[in-house]
Order: sequence, then C-alpha cells, then structure tokens
Amino acid sequence: MPDRPAARKLFIRTYGCQMNVYDSERMAEALGGQGYVLTDAPEGADLVLLNTCHIREKASEKLYSDLGRLKPLKAANPDLRIGVAGCVAQAEGEEIIARMPLVDLVVGPQSYHRLPEMERQVRAGARVVDTEFPAEDKFEVLKDRPKAARGPTAFLTVQEGCDKFCAFCVVPYTRGAEASRPADRILSEARGLVEAGVREITLLGQNVNAWHGAMSGDRQGFAALIAALARIDGLERIRYTTSHPGDMDDALIAAHGAEAKLMPYLHLPVQSGSDRILKAMNRKHTAEAYLRIVERLRAARPDILLSSDFIVAFPGESEADFEATLDLIRAVGFGSAFSFKYSPRPGTPAAEKAELPPEVADDRLQRLQALMTAQQRDAQQAMVGRETTVLFEKPGRLAGQMVGKSEHMHAVHVAGPDNLRGQIRKVRIVEAGPNSLAGTVAD
Ligand code: 5AD
Ligand code: SF4
Repeated sequence: MPDRPAARKLFIRTYGCQMNVYDSERMAEALGGQGYVLTDAPEGADLVLLNTCHIREKASEKLYSDLGRLKPLKAANPDLRIGVAGCVAQAEGEEIIARMPLVDLVVGPQSYHRLPEMERQVRAGARVVDTEFPAEDKFEVLKDRPKAARGPTAFLTVQEGCDKFCAFCVVPYTRGAEASRPADRILSEARGLVEAGVREITLLGQNVNAWHGAMSGDRQGFAALIAALARIDGLERIRYTTSHPGDMDDALIAAHGAEAKLMPYLHLPVQSGSDRILKAMNRKHTAEAYLRIVERLRAARPDILLSSDFIVAFPGESEADFEATLDLIRAVGFGSAFSFKYSPRPGTPAAEKAELPPEVADDRLQRLQALMTAQQRDAQQAMVGRETTVLFEKPGRLAGQMVGKSEHMHAVHVAGPDNLRGQIRKVRIVEAGPNSLAGTVAD
C-alpha cells in the first residue's frame, strides 16, 4: 500500500476581534480537506495565515512587522506559503502584494470559502488576491462544522457587516453591508456544537443584535433567535457580542429578564458620553438614550454587568465633552471597558478632520482608564462572599488550578481536578484580584 502523505502543517495567527477567532477556525476546517492540520508555531509550517484586523492603526502596522519576521522562515523553506486574511487583506490587498513579495495569498473575509482553490493555486506557484464581496453566502459554502470533540465554549457567527457607518470606523468598508445568516443554519450549527460538547455559545456579529430572519414563516428579530437557541437541550449559556444601542429593542431587553440561559453580561459600546461627539461620530443615539437602555436592562435583569468601548480624543472633543464621558461612566458603573485613542482610518469621514494633539489623547486615555480600573475593581470586589456559577474551561497557571467564566464573565479560578472542565458548578468567591476572582467549589 502506498504511504499516506504526511499531513501538511497550517499555522494561523489571529489578530483583533472574536469574529476573527471564529473565522480562523473555519479557515482551518476549510483547509482540513486539503490535508492540513493546525500547528502552534510558524516554524515548520507549510502554510502560514495571518488573520488581520484593521480597526486601529497599530493593528495594520503589526501585520507588516510580523510579515517581516517571517522572512527568514521563507528563506529557509521556499515551499512555505504565506497568506494574509481578514480586514487588512480586504482594505489593502493590492498594497500588501506590492509591498511584501513574500506574501503568496491575500483573502478578504467574504471569500474564505474559496481558500481551498486558492491554496491549490499558490501551491502551484501563483500569487492570488481575492477581496471580492461575492454574491454567494460563504457560510452556505463552508459546511457545518464537523462534530469533533471540542472545548465547552464556542463562538458562532450569526450576522456580519455593518450599515451604521460610525464616522471613525472601517468595518462597513471591510466587512460590508449587514447580512444575517438564516435561522435554520444557525440552529443546526448550534446543535452540532452542543453534540460536540459545547455548553456555552457566544453569538457573534459586528452588529449582532441587528440580526433578523425568517422563523416559522415570520420575520423575526434577535430575541426570537435567542429564544429558539435557548430551547436546545444541553446548551446552558448564551452570550452575544457586539451590540449597537440602536438595536436594543424591547423584545431583546425583555429577553434578559426572561431567558435564564442568557447570561447577565452585556458588551454595549457607547463610545462617548457627549451628545455633540456622539453626533459627530454618527452614532445615532444620545447619552441619555443609552442611559435609558441601561436602566431598562437593569429593570429586566438587576444584576446585569455592562461593558463598553470608548474612544477618546475624537476630532473636536473638548475637555467638557471628555468629562461628559467620565460622567456617563460614573452614572452607569461598568464592570469592564475597552478604551482607545482615536486613530484616523483611511476612507472614513472622521479621517478628514483635524486630530487633537497626542498629549491630549494620552492624558484623556489615562484618566478614563484610571476611572475604569477603579470601577472594575469595585465590580470584582463586590463578588467576594457571593456564590456564582462557573463553567470551567481549562487548567489555570498554577498546578491543580482550574479556570472558567462566571455568569458575569469574570475569570474565576479554583483548586480542583482536571475533570471540572466542561462542568458548570456553584462557586463561592473568596478573593478578588485585578483581573480574576478566586473561589471554592460550593456544590
Ligand atoms: N479609532 C479608535 N478606536 C476605534 N474603534 C473603532 N474604530 C476606531 C478608530 N478609528 C473602537 C471602537 C469600537 C472598537 C471595536 O474599536 O470603540 O467599538
Ligand atoms: Fe463600526 Fe459603528 Fe458599525 Fe460598530 S456600529 S462596526 S463602530 S460602524
């Protein structure tokens, strides 16, 4: 019998958001049919894919420096093929090919189902670029995931793209117009994940709560999709990210009170607390409207923990505007937040406007982060002495430790055996660190 050829090794580096994490998994599955298995270092790989992020400037700079670091590997192994995927690929495909001779393949996020064919072409020595927005739905072409055993948590993309056009943001250009996956495909993928051992699913979309689709013949919104997912036996926890305040409709707010499987944690970016800046950002909501949504969410689910994204030093932001953001943070009391200095992105309307001096941006970022650090510490501290449930995911850094996530997304570690993995257990929190909680299993 002829020997089976050795598996080819695929290394994928993922930058940026959770949707890229999901896409990287799907790319690995798509290439699995070509005999590729994943490896955890670029050294020795036959194909390296960098799945990039374009959201802020530093992200694309990082791509070019990481590509530079792959040069010696390509010199040592001329058969190595290097590909760039993700949003930088979408936005700067031709530039990457022109600037980086070592890149063989550039593929935008809407073309991943074409990867097997593109891989054959680059193996044969071609350089290929595909940054089209094809008419076919890539999810229809990328088959449902195989039911290989997997960890207890998974991402599931339900919606892609964005029609909101916030003035600072490249997403509407790199990920295209809002598009929802059909409910039956989402539900069948979710069932497959649960059969493979998944107990918590995070629904993903650039504007996930804008999801809509036909269910039982009617056009339904995101809350109905959550309700349908909640009926899957064995699926214990549902989360979703990222949401726009404009799509937090009544049904979705009510779902936070009604669906026990919907976890009491919500990432709901507000970006700024100043109405003037929100308008300039084209966010289409006021600070007051955001506060009202928070109030209603808390009425539905009193213990819900909120997180947000903030941009400081958006063009035209005055000290008073910035203080309005700090006021909003104080008013809401977030559990955590991500904050960024405004970074002009080519092709976006805000990039035409004058930037604030870098020292102003640095100072505001520091002040905002100091306030957030204090709020996060308070939120973590408030957990001490309380019982929560934790879904254990993996061993901790110390021997004999297991870590998982609380309902409120806190990382929690306990002393316990490996077989806690995949279990949801009651945990009494005994100590709060800056980024994680320590507890003891209490059931
Ligand atoms: N500059 C700084 N931050 C940005 N974000 C998006 N675009 C920019 C930009 N041009 C932030 C927003 C968004 C998060 C994913 O990244 O806060 O919610
Ligand atoms: Fe970007 Fe705004 Fe769309 Fe979010 S809602 S992806 S920030 S344009």
